[in-house]
Amino acid sequence: MEERVYIFDTTLRDGEQSPGYTMNTQEKLRVAKQLEALGVDIIEAGFPQASEGDFQAVKLIAETIKECEVAALARANDEDIDRAWEAIKNAKKPRIHTFISTSDIHLKYQLRKTRDEVISIAVRSVKRAKKYTDIVEFSAMDATRSDWDFLVKIFEEAIDAGATVINIPDTVGYAVPDEFGKLVKYIKENVRNISNAIISVHCHNDLGLATANSIAAIRSGARQVECTINGIGERAGNASLEEIAMILKTRKDMFSVYTGINTEKIYPTSRLVTTITGVPVQPNKAIVGANAFAHESGIHQDGLLKAKFTYEIMTPESVGIPKSTLVLGKHSGRHAFRERIKELGFNLNERELNLAFKRFKALADLKKNVYDEDIEMIIMDEIYKVPEKYKLVYLNVTCGNTTVPTATVKLEIDGVVLQEVSTGVGPVDATYKVIKKLVKTQSRLVKYSVNSITKDMDAQGEVFVKLEEKGISAVGKGVDTDIIVASAKAYLNALNKLEFMKQKKG
Ligand code: KIV
Ligand code: ZN
Repeated sequence: MEERVYIFDTTLRDGEQSPGYTMNTQEKLRVAKQLEALGVDIIEAGFPQASEGDFQAVKLIAETIKECEVAALARANDEDIDRAWEAIKNAKKPRIHTFISTSDIHLKYQLRKTRDEVISIAVRSVKRAKKYTDIVEFSAMDATRSDWDFLVKIFEEAIDAGATVINIPDTVGYAVPDEFGKLVKYIKENVRNISNAIISVHCHNDLGLATANSIAAIRSGARQVECTINGIGERAGNASLEEIAMILKTRKDMFSVYTGINTEKIYPTSRLVTTITGVPVQPNKAIVGANAFAHESGIHQDGLLKAKFTYEIMTPESVGIPKSTLVLGKHSGRHAFRERIKELGFNLNERELNLAFKRFKALADLKKNVYDEDIEMIIMDEIYKVPEKYKLVYLNVTCGNTTVPTATVKLEIDGVVLQEVSTGVGPVDATYKVIKKLVKTQSRLVKYSVNSITKDMDAQGEVFVKLEEKGISAVGKGVDTDIIVASAKAYLNALNKLEFMKQKKG
């Protein structure tokens, strides 16, 4: 009989904590709702003890999400566990995930504790978490560099103390598939009370083996995998959810397991994470990269035209890439627009739909084809915007190879219209200098990137900007057929978000 593999998504914890992937509370909530629609079993919403912002985000997600378990991470100490519980206590299915290192390397150099001390801390923490909730996960950090018999011992004790899931993390991405599969088998065969817990794995991708190791673990009996959308996470990332889900589906013949993932929601989820974080997926990324289903070679194209399965092991539609060639334009009506929005995984009310449709029509007047990426950007820009303290009223830039780039910008700031002029080394620099002058911001620009979001000459430019100020960072996006305007919008969007976050933090 087929067994279920539980999908534990840690995009909002291990993914979000890595550099460049910061999200604000509302953005985390949107990702969480999308993960719920995707069908993940557990959402690890964050690490409440890490910061007030993390705490609030976990709390909001716990109060909103109904279909999935919501997990909060806690180190193996009373304060972390109490704080984790405080954040998730209103969840329909709350899970506390507590962890401590088990490798001799970490014990000697980081924790400075003996193995016996580590066991008693683990037991105490699991018991404390168990007083709060039935679902308790215990992780042995750096498990793959730990002594296997010590792992057996600590897992037995953790299960006796009430752990319902024991997790084997490859924290530093050191394991190779054969070895990792054997470790999982060893745990399964030697932990006396293992029938009372689910075996979980959590693989990092330092050697590019996170997915392969997770799959080897499933083969050996792991029934929970921890993973992230687009494989984002510490250093080289975590195991990628989309890869694991599609391996188990496409090679069903090799594994008698299934997941609850609605694979058609994979691509919209991947796009949502990209548009929120501003970090694009590499084009050759399996399943969700721009080239994942693009066939360039003549021989392949010839085969595909004769019969799809000659070179296609899964269809783009099965991962939610819309039937692509149906592009909207200025003659497309509200009905087609509404349908496309649904296909893209957005759930808009009538008012939001009207707003987005108006923007779509304006864009369709400017460019011939409106692609899915354009529509996503309209929705991000129009529907999910933060309050606009700073609004762009007017922008005029002169530049070229015989003139000094000069920008004139008019902004509305709290209802008052102000204007300034500045020169710069280029048109974006000149524009940003004026905005900086008008807003009097103390923030630092730490990232600026510009991409064309679709392929035509009249494509929209998509600009991402990251700002930092006193430990708070904000990613802003701007989209326009003119990249200088898109740059100004992105900068203002980041400034508005920063302002919003500063106010929230009091
Ligand atoms: O990589 C790791 O070991 C972790 C643990 C907290 C599970 O992220
Ligand atoms: Zn990790």
